[in-house]
Amino acid sequence: MKVELAAIVHLDWLKAHDVHVSPVWSARCLSLGEYRVAVIDAEPVGFLRHSWFWGTIPYMELVLVLAPVRRHGIGTALLKHWEAAMILRGARFLMTSSMADEPEPQAWHRRNGYRETGQLTFGSMQPTPEVFFIKEI
Ligand SMILES: CC(C)(COP(=O)(O)OP(=O)(O)OC[C@H]1O[C@@H](n2cnc3c(N)ncnc32)[C@H](O)[C@@H]1OP(=O)(O)O)[C@@H](O)C(=O)NCCC(=O)NCCS
Repeated sequence: MKVELAAIVHLDWLKAHDVHVSPVWSARCLSLGEYRVAVIDAEPVGFLRHSWFWGTIPYMELVLVLAPVRRHGIGTALLKHWEAAMILRGARFLMTSSMADEPEPQAWHRRNGYRETGQLTFGSMQPTPEVFFIKEI
């Protein structure tokens, strides 16, 4: 398994698996280097997509590993690859979030050094609070 910056060959796979954003947004993120993929024998098995809060703080929007290969270190490898790249770009804080009723990803974030920093609700769009995490480098 290796982690790499996503390339155009991964776009169809990302469009199919990153269902939270539109295909147009996936293409935009790819062109800006905001996707990383984990691949096994050239087949993607997971991805990490980020953006920038305030234009300066890297915000990991979504990390996803295919269910059959979870808990084998792939999510952590994606995270480490992303963190190293963000540190090289001068980041002092890293940020992520997950829904309050998702204890499993929250446990994973904490295990990787992220601490809870607050919650936001988004009215009828998302009644369940979104829990934000930061990591100071
Ligand atoms: C969260 C996710 C990315 C973690 O990736 P992963 O490759 O499965 O995790 P890793 O193998 O790198 O890390 C495993 C460790 O994380 C923690 N962990 C991972 N999944 C867990 C779970 N379901 N319950 C509790 N702890 C969990 C454990 O400490 C585990 O170590 P262990 O197996 O030795 O107990 C993956 O489970 C996933 O894609 N989940 C669905 C999508 C999602 O919820 N994404 C996060 C929202 S942004």
